[in-house]
Amino acid sequence: MSFSPENILVLDSIDSTNNYAMALIQRGDATAIKPVFALEQIYGKGRRGKHWKSNKGANIILSIPLQMQWLSVSQQFHLSVAIALSCHDLFSKYNLANLFIKWPNDIFINDSKAGGILIENVIKGTLWQWSVIGIGINVNQEGFEEFDLKATSLKLATGKSYDVLNLAEELLCFVLKRIEELKSGNFEKMLEEYNRHLFAKNKTVKLKKENIVFETTITGVSSSGQLITKDAFERRFDFDEVEFKGLV
Ligand code: BTN
Repeated sequence: MSFSPENILVLDSIDSTNNYAMALIQRGDATAIKPVFALEQIYGKGRRGKHWKSNKGANIILSIPLQMQWLSVSQQFHLSVAIALSCHDLFSKYNLANLFIKWPNDIFINDSKAGGILIENVIKGTLWQWSVIGIGINVNQEGFEEFDLKATSLKLATGKSYDVLNLAEELLCFVLKRIEELKSGNFEKMLEEYNRHLFAKNKTVKLKKENIVFETTITGVSSSGQLITKDAFERRFDFDEVEFKGLV
């Protein structure tokens, strides 16, 4: 399936673009399946069951439905890497000094979150059929409710405002390019690039696991998506096993 940026479906307000895109897939009408952009989400979904908040019209809120039979279920992290790199590609145009990918797939400027990715999958038996790639990028928003992470936006980082729909179209182009790169078998190179941009690489951080906070040094991310760290031992963590609690 190929999408062109002009055929993004633009909605004024919706509960969640990921839910909307998933409903398009479930309906099974291939001609109706397209990327969904919204000015506002009433119940935007974040990772770990969190609520993704975004001021109306200020930011990219985009969900891309993608047919996935070409990767196996055990390769889910490959898609995550491709999408994180696409978001990094979009921000790279603005020559930001401290632009990072924070494991598993947040976009960070300095030590603040500028974008997040929520990929939801349709898996039947052992077959990965579809993904909905949900991307929230903070573009023009200048004030954030701060929870456990600090947030920032492209405007706060560059001092300029942007046309959010144009940027969403550009982001879609980057996503399509990175998907092609992944399909052409370049995952190892992409993982190397992901690790090159990894937030807090070779830095000591605080992680929390089962209510215990400990210090360890991030050394990289493996091809299956595990965070690799080192202190007295080398350690490996799955996505939702540990929570990032800050730099030391
Ligand atoms: C995160 O927690 O970092 C992931 C945030 C993902 C938010 C995006 S906005 C577009 C899409 N629709 C949703 O409901 N969530 C994702």
